Amino acid sequence: MLHLQHAMRPRHQAGDIARGRFVSGFRSFILNDLAGDLRAAYDTRVAPEFQKKHGRAPASSSEVHKAMRADPAFKVYSACRVRAQTMVWDSVTPVVNRERAALEYVAAATGALDAVRLDPDLVTPKNVAGLDVHLMPGGYLAADDFPLAAGAVYDQGLTVFSMGLMGQNLDDIGQSMAAYVRGAFPDFAPAAILDVGCTVGHNTLPWKTAYPDADVHATDVAASGLLYGAARAKLQGKDVAFHQMNAEALAFPDANFDLVFTSMFLHELSAKTRAAFFKEAHRLLRPGGLLLNMELPPNSQVAPFDGFYLDWDCFYNEEPFYKGFRDQEPRDLCRAGGFAEADYLQFVVPSIGIYGADAVAAAAAAAAARGPGAIEDGKTGRLAEGVQWFGFGAWKAA
Ligand SMILES: C[S@@+](CC[C@H](N)C(=O)[O-])C[C@H]1O[C@@H](n2cnc3c(N)ncnc32)[C@H](O)[C@@H]1O
Repeated sequence: MLHLQHAMRPRHQAGDIARGRFVSGFRSFILNDLAGDLRAAYDTRVAPEFQKKHGRAPASSSEVHKAMRADPAFKVYSACRVRAQTMVWDSVTPVVNRERAALEYVAAATGALDAVRLDPDLVTPKNVAGLDVHLMPGGYLAADDFPLAAGAVYDQGLTVFSMGLMGQNLDDIGQSMAAYVRGAFPDFAPAAILDVGCTVGHNTLPWKTAYPDADVHATDVAASGLLYGAARAKLQGKDVAFHQMNAEALAFPDANFDLVFTSMFLHELSAKTRAAFFKEAHRLLRPGGLLLNMELPPNSQVAPFDGFYLDWDCFYNEEPFYKGFRDQEPRDLCRAGGFAEADYLQFVVPSIGIYGADAVAAAAAAAAARGPGAIEDGKTGRLAEGVQWFGFGAWKAA
């Protein structure tokens, strides 16, 4: 099992490590071997049958999903994947509870908790209050008597879940995106950066590393991740301000930031909140600033089978807005937020942890050559072989 490299990680016993390794290994088996069986079932049984019946191949992710549902390979894959997901949380929650005193002691000693700007009047939106997102019991919300719990469980759980593919401190997305932005836009020097929907700030911190002079802010609606994340950031020597805010109405003045960043965030919002966030991002950016979102790519840009594969979490992992988001056009979201069509950009970045800084630099150079708005085929950003992160957003007109 990969260990987080910061002092908020709980002390592990041999059994904890074995359980974590087992669950990561089980997930790897599902996402590689069983996913391979799924593809083979599609190619050899499901797609030919569909072709025979309809005289054409499935044209959308929904058609593939409908056709695959009865296939035994899909049933095995889905049953195992749901079970593995619950095992992720079961493997870490007892550890966090057992190590509570140490966790609270370390967090308090950082002095970072009092600096978190919590909003006692904030009404937690239904997409957070009403769901066990990712099948995580209680979702992002902390138990009243243990405010750090949900943040700690998320940090540990994501470590088990990601099988080492998200970097030592789960910051590969932030690191890869920041390296890409530096490489692709060398003249862009953001003085103020905002990460929205930061959870524990794992992908916020690389922006402070990439732009050490920048004033970096991280926001989320869920207090637990913010408290835990503030201590986690302090322990890694990163000066980041954490705020509890709803992305629909972010309490910063107009034109306050040069870069607004999100990562794996948009798919957890209702369409209404998502639209409001794009307007907020536009309002908050200075002219010449950049909105950048890391997400899974839209269904329109992947083959129907890949779309079906990526839609899975929407139906079986308590992420009900996922498909709705991926059915939207990223370009349209930006345009509706107030960004000009010509200022749209999107790209795919290879994971810096897996492929190295040179590969990210090459992607930045290739993107410049390809022109904005073009991505390479077959790069889906999913967590299996060949980890690539999809990014899209827009510049605010200067
Ligand atoms: C999947 S997590 C994002 C993870 C993180 N950004 C990363 O890079 O992995 C989604 C986060 O969005 C937050 N969230 C959901 N709705 C929100 C809203 N309306 N405003 C702000 N944060 C919200 C949740 O509390 C959760 O922490």
